[in-house]
Amino acid sequence: MSEEKRSIHGTWSSRWTFILAATGSAVGLGNIWKFPYMAGDNGGGAFVLVYLACICIIGLPIMLGEIMIGRRGRSSPANSMKSLAAEANTTSAWTLLGATGALAGLLILSFYSVAAGWAMSYIFNGFQNITAESSSSSFNNLLSSPLSLIFWHSLFIAITVFIVARGILKGLEKWINTLMPMLFLIILLLCIYAMQTGAFFEGLRYLFMPDFSKINPQVMLEALGQAFFTLSLGMGAIMAYGAYMPANQNIGKTAVSVAALDTGVALLAGIAIFPIVFANGLAPSEGPGLVFVTLPIAFSAMPFGILFGTLFFVLLSIAALSSSISLIEPGVAWLIESLKIKRITATILLGFAAWFIGLFSALSFNLLSEFTILGKNFFDATDFLTNQIMLPLGGIFIAIFVGWVMKKEHVLDELGFQENFIFKAWYFSVRFVAPTLVGLVFLYFFL
Ligand code: PFF
Repeated sequence: MSEEKRSIHGTWSSRWTFILAATGSAVGLGNIWKFPYMAGDNGGGAFVLVYLACICIIGLPIMLGEIMIGRRGRSSPANSMKSLAAEANTTSAWTLLGATGALAGLLILSFYSVAAGWAMSYIFNGFQNITAESSSSSFNNLLSSPLSLIFWHSLFIAITVFIVARGILKGLEKWINTLMPMLFLIILLLCIYAMQTGAFFEGLRYLFMPDFSKINPQVMLEALGQAFFTLSLGMGAIMAYGAYMPANQNIGKTAVSVAALDTGVALLAGIAIFPIVFANGLAPSEGPGLVFVTLPIAFSAMPFGILFGTLFFVLLSIAALSSSISLIEPGVAWLIESLKIKRITATILLGFAAWFIGLFSALSFNLLSEFTILGKNFFDATDFLTNQIMLPLGGIFIAIFVGWVMKKEHVLDELGFQENFIFKAWYFSVRFVAPTLVGLVFLYFFL
């Protein structure tokens, strides 16, 4: 194992920190905002089933691969791929994979921060006397105000830049340690509230009873993309964090814990939200506003709702921050290593780029709503390009790199595995199953 080699950016202070940081990256808007509305847009149970299959069969094996590449390479994803390609005597063109990953992170951050801005603005919602109609109209009012959207988007990027410029290894641990469990508790509280809405079982049925006739190429691609997005895979975020992982930590167990926590949070968010949707006569296919329209209704109806509502959106914003820093870290680490510039300069440069591109996403709900690419507004088009194309494609190449380019003895050495059944199953998956399945979904969708 790469015992003495350390990243120039530092190492996590303990094993627990990597799990926290990777979970912090994975758990974010993808679980609480995106998962429920995508499930609602794609017919509920059928989507959830394909999504869970993608997490287990494709996501988990690739996550192990990403952590391993990061820890063995001990640098930014682009340079880790470069040095591991050299170790395997192949072309340094693999650096490109890390570079496109960094670009994907930047593009994701550009619209992620617009949605994170919605969460931040909801901290000040007040959560009183909210009905289904008033909730919908306040969300629409927010979307129609370019200045508010740009303000919150800018604030979110500024905080992300501030944290990353100081160095993500500092201070992150303390925060995630206490705040993530709190977010988890409020989601549980929302589930309890959902139980007495009278539509709890309707919600559960919607989420967990698949209607197989609803599975089509689009649902498959969306579920696949969501699996990559929610686990922060396919662009190097988890790889960048792997570079800071202590050498004696078990990669397999760690990946399973992160994926399980992430999936648990997404499912609980769905369990909380759909009963509220049905009890209030809202449509599950409400789109990106789903969480922002439903949850305020619940908070305004429960005791201490102002307190819980405010706290929930504070915590959701922090969960979004612990994800956004991992979106920009692969690019920042790469710029520092290759251009030998300071962390603060690299962060401001990339933060500015994400902010600028994000302006078009913020305006795509109002001033630029007429401007569409393949029928999608700028926000949805960036989301589609990154989550449904760039991340799964990145995933295929990462799997191929681990399964076909790296030498098997290096893989075994880094994972600290014997050549047992688990290793064989995983290795088979990265070599054959994951690339083939992702390839098939692409073919199915595009042909
Ligand atoms: N996984 C994050 C979420 O679910 O909100 C989003 C994300 C972070 C996606 C980092 C990709 C990534 F590399």
